[in-house]
Amino acid sequence: MEQDILLSLLDDAKKAAQAAYVPYSGYMVGAALLGASGKVYLGCNVENASYPLCICAERTAVYKAVSEGERDYLAIAVWVESEIPFPPCGACRQVLHEFNPSLSVIYGNKTGHVITDIATLLPGAFKL
Ligand code: THU
Repeated sequence: MEQDILLSLLDDAKKAAQAAYVPYSGYMVGAALLGASGKVYLGCNVENASYPLCICAERTAVYKAVSEGERDYLAIAVWVESEIPFPPCGACRQVLHEFNPSLSVIYGNKTGHVITDIATLLPGAFKL
């Protein structure tokens, strides 16, 4: 995946983070998932007073895409509005792997970004 496409996707993810509902953690996270169709699905994290019900930005984006009929993805970008960037959590890695075991991944924050892929982030993924 070309770097300029990934950087543009990261910009989409940054915009998506503005919709995050984060009264508990304060971490605004945005995701932008690029479908094989060319469509970009945005997601943000949505928290809840019952903490285990919180959902990450990445899974919001994937579930939006699946529910809109697209299951083939080329790349995902994840943006966090914090000093410390973080990669997709373990649960999101498993969900991303389900649909494309070699998905391109870019994650970043205002200090920089990392380009990788889901095979690197989740070696030995669970599969049926
Ligand atoms: N979060 C994400 O949205 N994506 C991740 O991959 C890691 C964590 C969210 C969940 C929660 O709302 C906040 O960041 C702190 O964990």
